Amino acid sequence: MLEKLVPQPADPILGLSAACRADPNPHKVDLTVGIYMNEQGICPVFEAVRRAQLALAEEEVTKAYLPPAGDEHFNLGMRRLVLGEGSAALAEGRVTSIQTPGGCGALRIGAEVIHAATPDARVWVSDPTWPVHIPLLGSVGLPFQTYRYYEPAGHGVNFDGMVEDLQNAREGDVVLLHGCCHNPCGADLGAEQWGRVAEMAERQGFIPFIDIAYQGLGDGLDEDAAGLRLLVSRLPEVIIAASCSKNMGLYRERTGAAIFVCADAGATGTVLGHAQVAARRVYSMPPAHGALLAGRILQDDGLNALWREELVAMCERINGLRSALRHKLEAGTGRDFGFIEREKGMFSFLGLSPGQARRLREEHSVYMLDSSRINVAGVNTGNIDLLAAAVAKVM
Ligand code: LMR
Repeated sequence: MLEKLVPQPADPILGLSAACRADPNPHKVDLTVGIYMNEQGICPVFEAVRRAQLALAEEEVTKAYLPPAGDEHFNLGMRRLVLGEGSAALAEGRVTSIQTPGGCGALRIGAEVIHAATPDARVWVSDPTWPVHIPLLGSVGLPFQTYRYYEPAGHGVNFDGMVEDLQNAREGDVVLLHGCCHNPCGADLGAEQWGRVAEMAERQGFIPFIDIAYQGLGDGLDEDAAGLRLLVSRLPEVIIAASCSKNMGLYRERTGAAIFVCADAGATGTVLGHAQVAARRVYSMPPAHGALLAGRILQDDGLNALWREELVAMCERINGLRSALRHKLEAGTGRDFGFIEREKGMFSFLGLSPGQARRLREEHSVYMLDSSRINVAGVNTGNIDLLAAAVAKVM
């Protein structure tokens, strides 16, 4: 049976990350997979996480399964973190959530619930979007439509194109939006544009499904959730996939939440029931460790303050790197890279062709995706000059 399988192409992101790891050049630059790296090129453990982990190791008395919806402290903390303390939907009891294996698990459970409610719902995804969105949501059987989003020539959002395309989204459709720090382009919607999306959703009856995997890495925890919160304040139903991979550095612990804002409190039980049935079918029970750590950090005032400080420092460093990279690239190429400073979070497209991205790998051991998406958080003072010089050579 297994002999009949045909080889699969390498994953467009993880395959390049593996190729970089295998490159013996000591000066190689890894800008592939979206993980935060510090000045030393290490993806660090947050001090708040380390402390939560020590306390957990002392106090933990069982490794029995968590309940199917996950840890209650974690779920409550995540709903407040994403929706905001003052959320009317929270106060009205219209929100339920389930702990999931990472943001990917949240996307999958969200898609399962959508499919259970409306099997022919079309999911509108931005062009471009994170490549894994398609198999993750598509494996549930939902069909896709794309809407224009990033305009490479202008290095920004083509909002008129987006609006024109989304005019075709109808009642019962789902529009997948990046809450902040768009992956792969880093170009986000402004407050007014979020308002226009809310108006369209109100008028046309489509439901926003918001992937907020990078909350806190753009402008701050509350600022990055402002668009999402605006939609939640105006619409009866919103589905959210949240993640602690990036903003708590819990990548390998697979810690996320699928959050469902329902039209009324009475609907939450049924929605949670569907999410739990889907989880049982797909992975049975959520992994505990990361959510127990995140739950402590979200609940404990001291740990929470420490975590927020660490996250602010991380966010400021990324924004500093954006500015430094912009200036180095402009000095080396004589071209305008101002967009790097305007974009948010870990990613930006440099605007290179796949051939130029390949030359960067082959001739300079600088690894970025073929689309020229870079992980800005992989840049540091030790590699920024080499990177800028290599880009200038291939441009
Ligand atoms: C990325 O886009 O690089 C990250 O979200 C990691 C991944 O799983 O692809």
